[in-house]
Amino acid sequence: MTSKILVLNGPNLNLLGTREPEVYGKETLADIEAASAACAEGLGMTVEFRQTNTEGELVDWVQQAKADNDLLIVNAGAYTHTSVALLDALLSCDIPVIEVHLSNIHQREDFRHHSYVSKAAQGMICGFGGYGYEMALHAASRILNKQD
Ligand code: DQA
Repeated sequence: MTSKILVLNGPNLNLLGTREPEVYGKETLADIEAASAACAEGLGMTVEFRQTNTEGELVDWVQQAKADNDLLIVNAGAYTHTSVALLDALLSCDIPVIEVHLSNIHQREDFRHHSYVSKAAQGMICGFGGYGYEMALHAASRILNKQD
């Protein structure tokens, strides 16, 4: 059966392309979504992208994820570093979680070095720009195929 991957993006990621391009690159979220869809198709998976600027909406989506998805890829933006509510939702989501960041958060300000999401994630990919989402899809394929 085709695996379904839900990709959740947090605040300000709708601004990709124009937001600090020296940090986040020139690709838009739509560009990353298109590349991820092609990558997922090659791996025999489907991908659904969502973005929100609202913490509660992110928590709602994580709570609902397991009903219709096999694995969650999360770039929670700044909520990565602040949201215990998101961590609690991820700890209860019952499907594997992969954390992604475009930038290398460990090379940046100290407050970005800590991730609540990491406590619930199987692994984290950061520093590869939009390509990190494709890397996460390859990791997802490995994780899900091992479960079969
Ligand atoms: C980010 C890193 C976060 O620290 C930042 O708040 C973001 C984007 C990234 O993808 O590099 O919004 O998650």
